[in-house]
Amino acid sequence: MKTKILTYLRNTDQYLSGEQLSQQFGVSRTAVWKYMKQLKEEGYQIESVPRKGYRLIETADRITSSEILSQNKASWIGKEIEYFESTDSTNNRIRSFAEEGRKQGLLAVAEEQTGGKGRRGRSWDSPPGTGIWMSLLLKPCIEPHKASMITILAALAMARAIEKVTDLSPKIKWPNDIVINRKKTCGILTEMSAELEEIRYIILGIGINANTESFNRDIADKATSIYLENGEKIKRAKLIAEFCMEFEQLYEEFLRCGDLHTIKEAYESYLINIGKIVKIMKNRREEIRKAIGINELGELVVEDAEGRKEIVFSGEVSVRGLYGYV
Ligand code: BTN
Repeated sequence: MKTKILTYLRNTDQYLSGEQLSQQFGVSRTAVWKYMKQLKEEGYQIESVPRKGYRLIETADRITSSEILSQNKASWIGKEIEYFESTDSTNNRIRSFAEEGRKQGLLAVAEEQTGGKGRRGRSWDSPPGTGIWMSLLLKPCIEPHKASMITILAALAMARAIEKVTDLSPKIKWPNDIVINRKKTCGILTEMSAELEEIRYIILGIGINANTESFNRDIADKATSIYLENGEKIKRAKLIAEFCMEFEQLYEEFLRCGDLHTIKEAYESYLINIGKIVKIMKNRREEIRKAIGINELGELVVEDAEGRKEIVFSGEVSVRGLYGYV
């Protein structure tokens, strides 16, 4: 009910009387008053004027389930949300929920992670109030070797969502880092539980440096945030909602065709490595190649000096620019 009232308030700049709201939602005026009180306690600025009613003045930068749900128009991605003020890792939370049999589309969001996990066993700094730390539960009927394609979809969905919510031009560093002005602003960690031929569930974990004001010296040359790039703090729930809507479309399309051929071009339009010379690092060996694009499986297609094409799989290599991270 609180989410419904919030959505209603968000969609008008008029005053809404307690009477109007109580009729609209079939609850008493006292109940309406109580919901308003709860929303104010959550940080919403709601003006209440005698004989006129209530009006939402400003939305707080909260990522609670009501705040996300009131903006998420997807049909099933992120329509059930578990919010944590603080947790070790939202990927761990989704794993427990999956083991309890929760439905796909469930989103876990945390204000803070105390044990945020990055790729290749690294940790992921997740302080409170600045970023988006979230994980999505998926149960696709696809073979386990296709799981990495979901990460490609997520990167494209997030690049599009950032573009919608900001005036920035995000790029994708293959396979799934989002970079802005050549520095990383978002990372994706996909974990999976699978049998030999069947996926039980996938945990799509996404970390976005949204409103981060500074980074530790050791990562400041390769990490950035949306705020550091355009000087504007975003409403994190809006970005989460946009991501859910974009991802749902791409994911359904992917399940329909079974590979990435229909989104290949869109993905490549964001690919920062395209046409560039890259260093492929494989078992401590470095090879210099030119990145051509991706194939329908999401693998990177590269070319050597003689124009011979090769395929690079995401699991086995890391790709760098000739002079640094991209
Ligand atoms: C990377 O190393 O680039 C991936 C980082 C992924 C971080 C996110 S934050 C939400 C989710 N929970 C985690 O513990 N990790 C992912």
